[in-house]
Amino acid sequence: MTRVIAVANQKGGVGKTTSTLNLGAALHEAGNSVLYIDLDPQGSLTTSVGLEPEEIEETIYDAFKTTIYETDGCKIKDLLYESSAGPDLIPSNIELSAAELDLLQATMGELILKEMIEESGLKYDFVLIDCPPNLGGLTINALSAATEVLIPLQADYLALKGVNLLMRTISTVQRKINKRLRIAGILLTMADLRTRHSREVIEAAKEAVGDQINVFDSIVRLNVQIKEASVAGESILDYASQSNVAKAYRSLAKELMA
Ligand SMILES: Nc1ncnc2c1ncn2[C@@H]1O[C@H](COP(=O)(O)OP(=O)(O)OP(=O)(O)O)[C@@H](O)[C@H]1O
Ligand SMILES: [Mg+2]
Repeated sequence: MTRVIAVANQKGGVGKTTSTLNLGAALHEAGNSVLYIDLDPQGSLTTSVGLEPEEIEETIYDAFKTTIYETDGCKIKDLLYESSAGPDLIPSNIELSAAELDLLQATMGELILKEMIEESGLKYDFVLIDCPPNLGGLTINALSAATEVLIPLQADYLALKGVNLLMRTISTVQRKINKRLRIAGILLTMADLRTRHSREVIEAAKEAVGDQINVFDSIVRLNVQIKEASVAGESILDYASQSNVAKAYRSLAKELMA
């Protein structure tokens, strides 16, 4: 059974793309087959594995159109790229922003990505979907296709209103579209642990979201090497294999595999 993990938070800049990239690299390093799906028109994940989004002719948007309009255009298995981080990648670029409109016109538009993945016949242990920073049609498609959702949250600015809205959206999707969807957990990112002990940060997050929602023990600290790695087009596991952040993503992978 493929585990399909949507990495989602409508708040921008919380570490969705970074976590997708490095969790995928860690799962790959541990011997799993992993597919990244870049579902953000910004194409940041595509960029961060060393590709140039605007130079890619066919992207996931073309596969969306094939399924929505039932043409014989390209499908996701025609769009597989090798990423520098190890996993395969289905790329995106700015053209994907038009998909929001196409999805509105589609019958059962929420389920297009699920159909694309299922009919591809691709077999991976993990599919990781990097979501855009909004709760529009693309994010709903990711939640509908996923078996799990992982929520990166910037540790020092617990944007609680935003998290409540995300939780409501997730439970609506669970109720109406995807009963098997579960919350894998909240991943605390960009934590500045010089001032506070990690246990306190975890406890504060648990209090904020309620204790029925898992908060991962692995915490990703604020570390400038993450930015350097992404400029270099590498995962942090390759760029700084022994750094605290590389270790955090490895231990997150372990928590997920357990
Ligand atoms: N642990 C970290 N330490 C320092 N910088 C980080 C860390 N994690 C991510 N960053 C940096 O913060 C910025 C935002 O991260 P990222 O792009 O992963 O967020 P995002 O949620 O995907 O953003 P968007 O909502 O725009 O898609 C990037 O410049 C990234 O390099
Ligand atoms: Mg992103």
